[in-house]
Amino acid sequence: MPLADPAHPLAAVTHAAPYDYYRRLAAGPPLRFEASLDCWLATGAAGVCAVLEHPACRVRPPGLAVPLNLAGTPCGALFAELVRMNDGERHAVPKQVLARALGQVELARLQARTLRMGGERVPASAAQLNEALFELPLFAMADVLGFAPAQWPALAAWTRDFVACLSPLSNAEELAGAQEAAGALLHAFGCLLREADALPGSLLGSIVAQAQALGWHATGGLQANLAGLLSQTCEATAGLLGNAIVALRTQPGLYGQLRATPQLWPAMLGEVSRHDPAIHNTRRYTAEDVDIGGVRVAAGQTVIVVLASACHDASVQAEPGALQRAVALTPGFGHGRHACPGQSIAHAIAAACMQAWADGLEDMPLAWTYRPSLNARIPVFSAGAAS
Ligand code: HEM
Repeated sequence: MPLADPAHPLAAVTHAAPYDYYRRLAAGPPLRFEASLDCWLATGAAGVCAVLEHPACRVRPPGLAVPLNLAGTPCGALFAELVRMNDGERHAVPKQVLARALGQVELARLQARTLRMGGERVPASAAQLNEALFELPLFAMADVLGFAPAQWPALAAWTRDFVACLSPLSNAEELAGAQEAAGALLHAFGCLLREADALPGSLLGSIVAQAQALGWHATGGLQANLAGLLSQTCEATAGLLGNAIVALRTQPGLYGQLRATPQLWPAMLGEVSRHDPAIHNTRRYTAEDVDIGGVRVAAGQTVIVVLASACHDASVQAEPGALQRAVALTPGFGHGRHACPGQSIAHAIAAACMQAWADGLEDMPLAWTYRPSLNARIPVFSAGAAS
């Protein structure tokens, strides 16, 4: 019997088979009110792009820079500085600094180092795999930033604890852990920044150089956004890796093809990012009345931007001629002024991990469900049927 549709886009994130539902959303009106969630939905490429490009659609509700439960805490202080959580002047220069420095990372070197790291840590069970999905990308980012290997496990653990403060599903214990982790991450980056001169060629060195060149002098903001690079990597790249493993399990012949032609790994990860993306939605808040395609949304409203429906929008993602289309849309990484500056890095890390692990995982019996989340699709593996 076919599965029932998810009740709404937040339930679709962890649904076993949500993509027919997303395709139908994409075929409907680009902007509609969803009464069950008491908010607006932006769907399909047109709706997603229009909202993400609109200057009055902001990443935070007006007058609420930090969520109430984080106000006055270490997590709140870190959150308030993140480029991801700011618009206008507080966003533009820091974003430029990060994007330029991330754009200078040597991807071939990153991939080679991650391949070696992954080869030394091939998961031998479903439980180890669930840990490795999070750890390896964070180790790779810690390495490229300039941290020594002995520091990677603590940084990965703090990052995983910190991101709990970003989810409305976290409990009081997880929030308390996030506060400690925020302090530890800021301290670790403070120490590394003091050593930055000794780290020529590191991503941190290059961020410091770009910050000086572009006049971004706020040390607190810099430290917070360095920690932000780890937190942005954490769940999204774990999701990409997990969904790539699901693709290998569910698409017969795919692994044979990749084994014969390993150069195809990056393209495979790119396709997973579109077909079964890690991040399914994001949010915007209207700072003033907004008119999009003749639909009026009043100031103070929440819009859920359903990125995954744009990934499955037949009007822009159809196979024929896709490469020649004017709009090269990768909705799973956002769009417009807040679009992800880490896409190539995420793909390089994930491609290397998959290449390092694929042989070891091939005969491992695996079943999966999804971690509870309102926006990130991350498989949780258990010992199950071999593929
Ligand atoms: C598969 C992995 C990843 C996915 C799916 C992903 C997805 C996204 C999405 C959807 C956004 C935009 C959110 C919005 O507009 O509301 C975003 C922003 C961002 N991502 Fe990623 N990301 C990934 C990996 C990374 C990595 C590895 C880094 C760092 C190296 C990174 C750094 C950032 C930053 C700094 C932003 C904020 C940009 C801004 O607001 O201007 N991401 N990411």
